[in-house]
Amino acid sequence: MTMDDDLSRIGISLPKNLLDKFDEILNYRGYSSRSEGIRDAIRTYISYYKWMSDVKGEREGVITMVYDHEQRNLLSDIMDIEHNYHEVIKASLHSHITHERCLEVILVHGDGSQLKTLAEKLMAHKGIESVKLTTIAIED
Ligand code: NI
Repeated sequence: MTMDDDLSRIGISLPKNLLDKFDEILNYRGYSSRSEGIRDAIRTYISYYKWMSDVKGEREGVITMVYDHEQRNLLSDIMDIEHNYHEVIKASLHSHITHERCLEVILVHGDGSQLKTLAEKLMAHKGIESVKLTTIAIED
């Protein structure tokens, strides 16, 4: 018996285009219901978070982020966050994907917990579409 057998019912509000994209993936992957897809997405989110919390010690890595540069104040907010972490940011690369969307790759080095905090600050920022942190330990 797992905890999953105790079902709770929740109601959520989502932007239509987000739901459309989600449904498209569910359809493509052959999910039987939206609930099943949402359960799966939540499990992935939880395991990603657990993986993030294992990032410790001196690390080298990259943060990959996608955002819409036309959103009000977004660029200057991102710049503020990055400047607050100037000790761990070694370099960054910006690529204009389309007229609106940007891809930014940030090269980071430092204590794992600090790299995580930086990634989480960016993740929590409204308007940033996606943020991914990948790191390797300097020594084992
Ligand atoms: Ni750009």
